[in-house]
Amino acid sequence: MSEHSVGIIGFGRFGQYVAKCLKEHFIVVVTNRTDRRKEAKRIGVRYTDQKECAKQDIVILCLSISSIEEVLNDIAPFLKKGALVLDTCSVKEYPVAVMQKIVPQYCECIGTHPLFGPDTTKNGIGGKKIALCPIRTKRLGRVVSFLEKIGLETIVLAPEEHDRQMARSLALIHFFGNALSKIDIKSVDVATATHDRLKELVTIVENDSDQLFFDMHHYNRFTQEVRRKLIEELMSIDKRLSK
Ligand SMILES: NC(=O)c1ccc[n+]([C@@H]2O[C@H](COP(=O)([O-])OP(=O)(O)OC[C@H]3O[C@@H](n4cnc5c(N)ncnc54)[C@H](OP(=O)(O)O)[C@@H]3O)[C@@H](O)[C@H]2O)c1
Repeated sequence: MSEHSVGIIGFGRFGQYVAKCLKEHFIVVVTNRTDRRKEAKRIGVRYTDQKECAKQDIVILCLSISSIEEVLNDIAPFLKKGALVLDTCSVKEYPVAVMQKIVPQYCECIGTHPLFGPDTTKNGIGGKKIALCPIRTKRLGRVVSFLEKIGLETIVLAPEEHDRQMARSLALIHFFGNALSKIDIKSVDVATATHDRLKELVTIVENDSDQLFFDMHHYNRFTQEVRRKLIEELMSIDKRLSK
């Protein structure tokens, strides 16, 4: 167990998951906008207020993408000298720009996107990937060593490249999965193994919040173009099949 303390701000679906992953390695305290004391008790971490969370050695933001700027403005005065601030957003250009602007110069900051979540790690996090966009830090090597020690594969890249690739991976999967969830593919029994994987995709997409789906598209400038291309292709295939 490290002597460093971690403050998790945002104790929703992903914040609770991060707390479970980190509580064996750090002293973890958590907070949330609406009261989530019960969840903290169940997980076995201490629930406190936002101000105290912001005063820890490492501050991890597990907030909706759209709330990151507002919350960072609130906590900035309480961040201590030398603290490391990390976000976990599924887009990177926007939160990295916000952290660059608001996190005080006497703190370090790194943008992160864990490419996994509670639904995709039922068998543990070993081999899963995490994207890192260093903003202002001397500790990237130490962070990478820790993440690799717990079994993750790290990918260090620029925020723009992250968002460009995300538009064709996670954001596209959620777009597609949301459409599939509306046409009820789950009640079908006569199906192949590939269909089972599609059902799994629908379940994963349905478990994530609508806010996350919306933000993942709204705050990534590359998603609209990919959505448009997919729709055009689908329409063209439909036209060919309807002849
Ligand atoms: N879900 C995943 O598998 C996954 C994986 C990788 C990264 N992420 C990232 O993790 C972050 C959280 O995702 P999530 O799945 O946990 O979503 P979520 O369940 O919708 O949780 C959103 C969190 O943000 C808080 N929040 C929203 N608006 C706020 C505001 N105005 N002020 C203060 N707090 C506010 C919510 O507080 P309330 O509870 O009070 O609403 C909640 O704690 C996102 O940035 C997402 O991109 C998620």
